[in-house]
Amino acid sequence: MKLAHRTFDIPGSETLAITAKANALRAEGKDVVGFGAGEPDFPTPKHICEAAKRAIDDGWTRYTATQGVPQLTKAVATHLQRQFGLSVEPNQVLVSVGGKHSLYNGILCLADPGDEVLLPAPYWVTYPVQNTMAGAVTTVVEARVEDGFRVTVASLEKALTPRTRGLVLNSPSNPTGAAYSVKDLEAIAEFVRANDLWVISDEMYARLVYDGFQHRFFATLPGMAERTLTVYGLSKSYSMTGWRVGIAVGPKDLIDAMNRLQGQSTSNIAAPVQAAAIAALTEPDDFIGEWVTEFDRRRRVMVDRLNAIPGVRCVLPEGAFYAFPDMRGLLGRRTPAGKMLATDWDLIDWLLDDVQVALVPGTPFGAPGFARLSYATSMANIDKGLDRIAKAVATLS
Ligand SMILES: Cc1ncc(COP(=O)(O)O)c(C=O)c1O
Repeated sequence: MKLAHRTFDIPGSETLAITAKANALRAEGKDVVGFGAGEPDFPTPKHICEAAKRAIDDGWTRYTATQGVPQLTKAVATHLQRQFGLSVEPNQVLVSVGGKHSLYNGILCLADPGDEVLLPAPYWVTYPVQNTMAGAVTTVVEARVEDGFRVTVASLEKALTPRTRGLVLNSPSNPTGAAYSVKDLEAIAEFVRANDLWVISDEMYARLVYDGFQHRFFATLPGMAERTLTVYGLSKSYSMTGWRVGIAVGPKDLIDAMNRLQGQSTSNIAAPVQAAAIAALTEPDDFIGEWVTEFDRRRRVMVDRLNAIPGVRCVLPEGAFYAFPDMRGLLGRRTPAGKMLATDWDLIDWLLDDVQVALVPGTPFGAPGFARLSYATSMANIDKGLDRIAKAVATLS
């Protein structure tokens, strides 16, 4: 069977490959400490689960409007206004099968083949692949560790060409946890306005910020609402990764186009899941504050322990639940078995095979020499995993 050309450019997920390998080692009876998870380790709160169960009993088992039932799009609009001061009408909301689906709908409706899209690196692995699937050309712009992994306007300007149409922003970021201050965002907004660009602003981790960081939605900056697609969701902050609820809000003509696209591809998300999402968005969510406190504790321990390892440097992230240390100081060294650690992949393979700790290499995120560790795992695991890494690194020659 001859496959379509577009499939040639779709790589398998390298992050899932690490998880699969870690699981295979566990199946062999090895005690692997996993830092690969991109999801909170807390269960979905009970009242959210109960709402879905009730919905099934109440007959929420049929097609709904593609964008979601009116109670849901209204709940989204009210939540975004109350939580972030972002004003949208319910008809500017489209609920999709996870933030990933919202992003995919978005790029398909914004980018024509050949359009160039600015993407700060380190980036979440899915953006460049979705750009390719839409026929768009990704222009990677380095956000340097020295700048706190925040892209500067000067480097964005350098990457501009007459074909540049858009910018993908992700704050707080996966994989770095870096978040942009209002001042940073204002400078970027000025650049966006001056160059007549659209923006996809992925704010999936907006509620997971530390040290009193004030997250500002990009679309709330003057003049940005009409050129920004905001992607939000319940996966990360409500621990609902498996439910698949992604939220897109933006200019009405863009959301209408995305709604038509979704109406011809997947239609509405599962009806009982919509009831769960309504409960999440309308009932008290103090648990998020408690989770943030716990993530914060783990964040500090993980970053301190990483920085205590010679050859490893890690900045304290402002949000999300990832540490993204610079491991370049370990490259070029040899393991006790004589293997040269030339790249981050070599390092990550060695840590998984010989030390039984699973990290994700930086290369798939556009940051060779770095690694991503999720602290959405217990403090006991963090201690155990970091003990192992520190001990193992001391054996490198
Ligand atoms: C930055 C970012 N955006 C979007 C998503 C997608 O989230 P969802 O699971 O809702 O599709 C993720 C998940 O890892 C993410 O890290």
